[in-house]
Amino acid sequence: MIGKLNHVAIAVPDLDEAAALYRQTLGAQVSDPKPQPEHGVKVVFIELENTKIELLHPLGDKSPIAGFLEKNPTGGIHHVCYEVDDIHAAAAKMKLDGKKVLGDIKIGAHGKPVIFLHPKDFNGTLVELEQA
Ligand code: CO
Repeated sequence: MIGKLNHVAIAVPDLDEAAALYRQTLGAQVSDPKPQPEHGVKVVFIELENTKIELLHPLGDKSPIAGFLEKNPTGGIHHVCYEVDDIHAAAAKMKLDGKKVLGDIKIGAHGKPVIFLHPKDFNGTLVELEQA
């Protein structure tokens, strides 16, 4: 069912520092920081040949990243995102298989429909499925 790895999202305590690390030390193509207030994050996008890395930093009071950074003060992998053809079919399959879908289908950071799956069902990893 899942296709390509769309992105790996990494929560970071200092966005400029993390962007510089990828730009200068790793020599990657790094975007300017982009605020996404509707998602409670500021994001730096890193384009790799085969996938993307998203550096996430909390934005606003109710950021979903804030708690994660409290537990992981140096940052860490927050979620991985796999592409699917049909988000409704994917959500239905997850529920049928007894996997916990967090919330409803919503429009994600790339303007495409996404769902999130609980880490307890996926080896401790928060999984995002995105309709490609
Ligand atoms: Co994501």
